[in-house]
Amino acid sequence: MADPQEILAQRVQSALGAAFGPEFADADPVIRPSQFADFQANAALALAKRLGRKPREVAAQIVEHLDADDLCREVEISGPGFLNLTLRDDWIAAQARALLDDARLGTPLQRRQNIPIDYSAPNVAKEMHVGHLRTTVVGDALARTLEFLGHNVIRQNHVGDWGTPFGMLIEHLLDVGDTSPEAELLKSDPNAFYQAAKAKFDGSEEFAERARKRVVSLQAGDEGTLEIWRELIELSKAYFNKVYSTLEVTLTDGDLAGESMYNDMLEGVCQELEDLGLAVMSEGALCVFLDGYTGREGKPVPLIIRKSDGGYGYATTDLATIRYRARELEADRVLYVVGAPQNLHFRMVWETARKAGWVPEGTEPIHVQIGNVLGSDGKILRTRSGKPIRLMELLDEAVQRASAVVEENRPDLDAGTRAHIAREVGIGAVKYADLSVSHDTEYVFDFDRMLALTGNTGPYLQYAQARLRSIFRKGGVAPEEAAAGAITIGEKAERDLALRLLGFGPTVALVGDNLEPHRLCGYLFDLAQELTTFYEHCPVLTADTEERRASRLALCAAALRILVQGLDLLGVRAPEQM
Ligand code: ARG
Repeated sequence: MADPQEILAQRVQSALGAAFGPEFADADPVIRPSQFADFQANAALALAKRLGRKPREVAAQIVEHLDADDLCREVEISGPGFLNLTLRDDWIAAQARALLDDARLGTPLQRRQNIPIDYSAPNVAKEMHVGHLRTTVVGDALARTLEFLGHNVIRQNHVGDWGTPFGMLIEHLLDVGDTSPEAELLKSDPNAFYQAAKAKFDGSEEFAERARKRVVSLQAGDEGTLEIWRELIELSKAYFNKVYSTLEVTLTDGDLAGESMYNDMLEGVCQELEDLGLAVMSEGALCVFLDGYTGREGKPVPLIIRKSDGGYGYATTDLATIRYRARELEADRVLYVVGAPQNLHFRMVWETARKAGWVPEGTEPIHVQIGNVLGSDGKILRTRSGKPIRLMELLDEAVQRASAVVEENRPDLDAGTRAHIAREVGIGAVKYADLSVSHDTEYVFDFDRMLALTGNTGPYLQYAQARLRSIFRKGGVAPEEAAAGAITIGEKAERDLALRLLGFGPTVALVGDNLEPHRLCGYLFDLAQELTTFYEHCPVLTADTEERRASRLALCAAALRILVQGLDLLGVRAPEQM
């Protein structure tokens, strides 16, 4: 089982060594997919400069030393000195066959790393908004993919469960009582709970005073206060978990690692930074100043780690967080799947932590920047009244709209089955829309587009795999049985499909390296399109020979496995029928 590009690279590299001497044996063979052949090797162009010779001559010498008869049908020199490489059909067929015998579908196991992934991270007693939806969906796809690649993924849900607002939230909960309908709001409409507390805080000096005192006893670890605080967190957890189970993300209570977890470490963080001379007092606050971070008029931007009132903030917590992830979790990479606007914050926190010696050379913090989700007006998605969109309502609407589509397309199915499919399609469509564009770009949230059965959408891919399943049903063949068939390649569409199948593993590996789930979406979309061309040219169940039928069914079995596995890595369901 092999990545053709990788194997060709090895072969061309050996040829370089053989042709020009050992000092060339690690030169980049520059293999790229090509329009004119399967791949092209562009090494001759750069080498010609180094050797002071004509590129075409260099190319000819590479060909002379290239040992690739077992996998290439044709090696041709073209243009200024490109090597056009065309694979042998029997080699592609054998590789596709090997793919079917590999439970990992050609995906390599990578050297195991410890990878904490900070994602989702909603705030207690606040509505999860579409921004949180996107970090949840992208983070979960990365967690699934990195785990599949063999890494030790440690999910870290850095919920906002600490800080000054908790004074008023606790007092409000005490006022209304923890079994009141107002308290129930925390489970269904947390923003309403927050707004009610805030209104009291702004409207009543007596309440505001209580709230401020409450923050002090919370910080001081007063047991009675902590008890109410824990109740508040419990109620909020119910809300988060409802969203997570609707989305079918892999986060559990065990992955909660919120801001409160670092509370005891904040004083030490400040002390150590002060002792190291990294933090200094400025206008009453304890600050870190870093080179190269300047605002307007060249004024240095401080990272404030202790406010003038003695309180610690978001940055202090994140300093403790990166130290914990580097030291206790022994992270190789630490992913922060968080909105792009927080980039400056993270860069300053990490640089400070590095300077303090908390983040060793081998630990790489990475901000997987999440772009905004926009409304059709090009602004951050909100309701018409200007309020942030409630996530559960959004998801319900997606399922409702998907029901309409399923009802229209499949009137033959019973209502229960249709409802089941609608859920998988509706939720899948929303998730896929978050994943299919590169994570750092903004995109416009548009139900019609994400639910369309054409284009790079969730439903299109779900349909592609459902269609494969229906071929097997119609033919009365189980996919597992078909997967045992011999593969032969005749038609171009068979060849293209088989070659595309070999790209799955390398694509998954790339997603793990570059942290870009949209590459997997793009790959699956190409595969689905290739399948359509394949059906047009290659009848499967009605193929003219038994051998062809078996081979085509085997290709279909491989395509089905890859689509299902690929969607699973993205966290999107693969309905049995559609
Ligand atoms: N709770 C934050 C928010 O809603 C996100 C936290 C991201 N993670 C972190 N380590 N700062 O914006």
